[in-house]
Amino acid sequence: MELSSSNISNTYFVKQWQTWAGSLHRVLCMQGGDGDGSYAKNSEASASAITLCQPLLLSALQSMKLFFLSKEDADSIRVADLGCATGYNTLATMNMVVNTLTQRYLNVCGFEPEFEAFFCDLPSNDFNSLFRSLEAMFPDGKARQYYAVGVPGSFYHRLFPRRKLHVAVTLSALHWLSKIPDAVLDKTSGSWNRGRVWIEGAKKEVVEAYARQSEKDLEDFLRHRREEIVVGGILFILMGGRPGSEPPENQLDADSRAKHPFTVSMDQAWQDLINEGLIDEETRDGFNIPAYMRNVEEVEAAVKKCGGFEIKRIEYKRIAEHSEEKQEEWIKDPGSYGRAKANLVRATLRPIVDAHIGPDLSEQLFQRFQNRVSSDTALLHKTCFYGVIIMSAIRV
Ligand SMILES: C[S@@+](CC[C@H](N)C(=O)[O-])C[C@H]1O[C@@H](n2cnc3c(N)ncnc32)[C@H](O)[C@@H]1O
Repeated sequence: MELSSSNISNTYFVKQWQTWAGSLHRVLCMQGGDGDGSYAKNSEASASAITLCQPLLLSALQSMKLFFLSKEDADSIRVADLGCATGYNTLATMNMVVNTLTQRYLNVCGFEPEFEAFFCDLPSNDFNSLFRSLEAMFPDGKARQYYAVGVPGSFYHRLFPRRKLHVAVTLSALHWLSKIPDAVLDKTSGSWNRGRVWIEGAKKEVVEAYARQSEKDLEDFLRHRREEIVVGGILFILMGGRPGSEPPENQLDADSRAKHPFTVSMDQAWQDLINEGLIDEETRDGFNIPAYMRNVEEVEAAVKKCGGFEIKRIEYKRIAEHSEEKQEEWIKDPGSYGRAKANLVRATLRPIVDAHIGPDLSEQLFQRFQNRVSSDTALLHKTCFYGVIIMSAIRV
C-alpha cells in the first residue's frame, strides 16, 4: 500500500527513532512499573523456569565450598543476580540463595555470615520499582538477611572487581544479545533480515550472523565472570535455549513455532502497520529482536574455550507456556488470551519498540498483535513450550 499523505509525518517521525540499534544497552530492558503491561505483572513464564531450575541451584549451593570457617575470619558472602529486572523472581531467588547458605553456615560452622546482594541489570532497568518491592517484602528493614546493592551495567562487560563474587546467577536473561548483528540491518548484506523481526524461519545467512554474535557474547560474558568470581564460587545460568540436536535455524520447539510471541503474530502485526500506511517496509526491516536460543553444545564449547570453569550440570528442559486451567479459560474467552499475550510482549519488547517507532506507533503495534492473537483461535488449542538451558559451574 502507498503511504497516505496523512501518514507521511508519522513515517518521518519514525525515522527519527532509528538510532537505538547501535546502543542497545541504553534501551533494552523489561517494561518497568507495576501496570498491566509491566514485567513485574507478566513474568510467570520466567517464574516457572526458576521453579524448574531450583533443585539444580539448591544442589550447587549445597555442595559449594565454605569460604569462612569461623565468625572472626568471616568476610561477607557476595551474591549477584545478573539481569534481575523487577518483580518477585529476583527477590525470591536472592532469598533462596541467602537462606540456603545461611543454613549451611549455621549447620557446619555454627555462625551466620553477612551477605551482600547485588541486583544487576542494564541502566534502563526500573531499579526504583525493584527496590520499592524489596522494601515491601521486608517492611521493617530488619528481617532482610542481606545488604542490597543495585549495579547498573551490561553483563557483557566487567561489573565487579576481581575475585569479588561467591555466587553469580543469571536467570532468563543471557539469551538477550549485546546487539543486533550489523549485517542483519545492512540492506547491502546477504544477511539482511528482510520481512521478519526475528531469526526463526529466516534465511541461513541471517541465522549465521546471529549465531556469530551469540558466540562472541557468551565468550565475553564468561571471560568477565571468570575474573569476578572467586575460585570455588558458583556460576549458575538459566537461559532460553534449544534442544541439542536442533540447528540454529530451528530456534524453537516444533510445537511452539507458530505460537511464539516473537514469530508469526508479531510479523503479522508489523505487516499490518505497513499495510495501513503507518510505517514503511524499511522501518520494519530496521527492527530485529536481539535474542538467540543456544543449545548445550554451543554453551559447552564457550565454557571450554574460556577456561576457568568446571561444568557440574548442564541440561536442556522444556516449560509449558501456561497451565491447563489457564488454557481452558482462554479457549472460552479468546479476547482475554489476546490481551494476556499482548501484555507479555509489551513487558518484554515495549522499550525497544518504543525506541524504534515511538510510543504511539508502538502501542498500535501491540494492539495489532493482540487482534491477531485473539482472532487465531486454532492456536489457542496448541500447547506451546519454551526451551531453557540450565548450567551450574564452579570457578576452578
Ligand atoms: C526476561 S528478564 C529476566 C528477569 C529475571 N532474571 C527473571 O528471571 O524474572 C531479562 C533481563 O535481562 C536484562 N538484560 C538483558 N541484557 C542484559 C545485559 N547485557 N546486561 C544486563 N542485563 C541484561 C534485561 O534488561 C531484563 O531485565
